[in-house]
Amino acid sequence: MRKKVVVGNWKMNLLRDDAGHRIGQLKELIGAKCGTECDVEIGICPTFLSLATAVDASRGSLIGIGAQDVFWKESGAFTGFLSASMIEDAGAKYVLIGHSERRGRFGKLEVPESTLGFFAETNETVNLKLKAVLGSSLVPIVCIGENLSEREAGDTDRVIGEQMAGAIEEVDASDLARVIFAYEPVWAIGTGKVCDSVEANRVCGVVRQCLPESVRDVIRIQYGGSVSPANAQELFSQPEIDGGLVGGASLKPEDFMQVIVAASSV
Ligand code: PGA
Repeated sequence: MRKKVVVGNWKMNLLRDDAGHRIGQLKELIGAKCGTECDVEIGICPTFLSLATAVDASRGSLIGIGAQDVFWKESGAFTGFLSASMIEDAGAKYVLIGHSERRGRFGKLEVPESTLGFFAETNETVNLKLKAVLGSSLVPIVCIGENLSEREAGDTDRVIGEQMAGAIEEVDASDLARVIFAYEPVWAIGTGKVCDSVEANRVCGVVRQCLPESVRDVIRIQYGGSVSPANAQELFSQPEIDGGLVGGASLKPEDFMQVIVAASSV
């Protein structure tokens, strides 16, 4: 049985004090509900600058802290980037790779089109990052998902297949076992338009079929995209969905706690 994993992605939100405060609140809520053990794995990915604060605030709790991106080189002349070992050194446990916003795939365009190249993550860079992270102790969370026009064109499974093949190219099956995948349909992210649970389950099954048979059954696949206290239980009760990657609803500790509880009751 795969342990459910619920991770909050705080994106570009919250200054350090606020981040630390909210981790503290979540820690209390989890402590009150679960004590020292929980059947759900819990993570929060704050901004890079809040990593150390969040790690400190989470000490003695069941919350693992994660970064939202990583560069694949270990060190050197790469202005503005951070390596897996630097993220590890900050005390993080998880790192997101290939989030659709980093791939320049926005549900509704949030940035001028001419700047999209800035978010130039590709299947190839996702693969480089995954390989680099697997050389550290961090747990990678690899994000994949189709956008609205791909879905409407009936291209969802092909896009997922390509993103998965690109992401895991030349990665040993034994290393893949600790990777978490997050199926996040771009059109469902931040829109309140959650993917129908049966369809989300089907696509998570497609993701699973892209994995080597030897580790297929142990790898966890999250759903992400407008997960909320209202829909979490329905999503997490699907057999292929092993938890969620949660944006907006993770910013409020009470809401995020409800999503965690929804994962634990199925
Ligand atoms: P959302 O974001 O829950 O706000 O839709 C999910 C994500 O982008 O990971």
